[in-house]
Amino acid sequence: MSSIQMEGGFPLFGEVQIQGSKNATLPILAATVLIPGISVLDHVPQITDVYSMITLLENCGCIVVWEGHSVIVDASLVSVGRLPKEDVITMRSSIMLLGALIGRTGRIFLDYPGGCIIGNRPIDLHLMALRQLGVSITECHAGVLAQTEQLQGGTITLPFPSVGATENSILAAVTASGTTTILNAAREPEIVELCGFLHKAGACIQGAGTERIIIQGRTLQSMVHYRVSGDRIVAGTYLFSCVACTGEVKLMDAPIEQMSSVIQCAKQMGCTITRKDHNLTAIMERRCVPIPYLKTAVYPGFPTDLQSILMAVYSHADGIGVIEETIFENRFKIVKELQTMGAKITVLQNRATVTGHAHLHGTQVVAEELRGGAALVVAGLASTGITIVSNPYYIDRGYEDITRDLRALGARISKE
Ligand code: UD1
Repeated sequence: MSSIQMEGGFPLFGEVQIQGSKNATLPILAATVLIPGISVLDHVPQITDVYSMITLLENCGCIVVWEGHSVIVDASLVSVGRLPKEDVITMRSSIMLLGALIGRTGRIFLDYPGGCIIGNRPIDLHLMALRQLGVSITECHAGVLAQTEQLQGGTITLPFPSVGATENSILAAVTASGTTTILNAAREPEIVELCGFLHKAGACIQGAGTERIIIQGRTLQSMVHYRVSGDRIVAGTYLFSCVACTGEVKLMDAPIEQMSSVIQCAKQMGCTITRKDHNLTAIMERRCVPIPYLKTAVYPGFPTDLQSILMAVYSHADGIGVIEETIFENRFKIVKELQTMGAKITVLQNRATVTGHAHLHGTQVVAEELRGGAALVVAGLASTGITIVSNPYYIDRGYEDITRDLRALGARISKE
């Protein structure tokens, strides 16, 4: 069984290139099936979720070629019978193919998607949105059959600004006839990225990044070239690694304008942050101080995907911090693993109180999901002694090579 091993307790010094964004790449890859020709995507992260999405595209008849970190998708011919269940259920983002393929083929059966075990992850909002655009949805125990004679623009009012449901609405609406208005849309940067890609393909979308998105459906062009931005969660992981361990790190190609709440949080914890072009430099000279109370929120609030990582940092901090998780109900699974490293954490419903101290100790811990796994790595770097994190394949879903990147920052870490 593979594992990540590290010797913690040392400051970090160095610079690292930030990989392309996972959460931007996945819906954009799904969107390539709407392009009746070639899409070229640059700065694509080489991670297992991307490989899974590419396998799904190939099963739809797309021809996909990697050239370094660029991916070329030829979606001239798309046909769908039933996508292989084993690939669909490996990740939540396979649901994006529902909106994209209904736009291209008018009919798709999809098994219920999978993803990290971070809480109940229903797809009711996705289905509600598609129904508003004239899609007939039939649910059975295995999955969802979506079909339509003609996608028709409409008004979609989301009761919660779900990122995925907003993306699926956009994917279905760009080729629908007429105008679609999405109200209470998610404002995450990944929505802006998806719309940026579709805009290059000739789509007419206004309001991306606001809570009201208006789309005029039209035929898309057959050639698109797009560069994916840096991954704000990966950049945040390395920034918080420095906050936990002290030192000086430079994050190159970090999506700084997408990271305001994260940068603000790191500054409040004692980190000095400077910016030059697309590079962010973080200097942490002493043990960090937690923010007394912080809650996760939809963008531009503090991202739920960095909550576990912040909890790992707080475990080693000088003081008490309360973290409230407001997006996913089961995102404190990491607590028991951090406790085996000596962390003092109590959980009451969706609030965790972390009493930081300087004596976290390395031990053997188990990753159970992507961001929680990365958080255990951050905790290991801040602990004294050896930490072994098993199940690193969860981390590989979203990080190209977390050990390579942290070694670039001077960490004593390797994958066995
Ligand atoms: C995306 C991100 C994920 C991030 C999350 C919140 C990708 C690939 N994943 O996930 O990393 O943590 O946004 O920023 O981009 N919900 C429903 N019904 C639905 C859809 C969602 O009740 O049909 C609920 C979910 O259970 C959850 C909340 O809405 O409690 C947020 O989910 P959503 O914004 O949809 O997240 P994802 O798109 O799955």
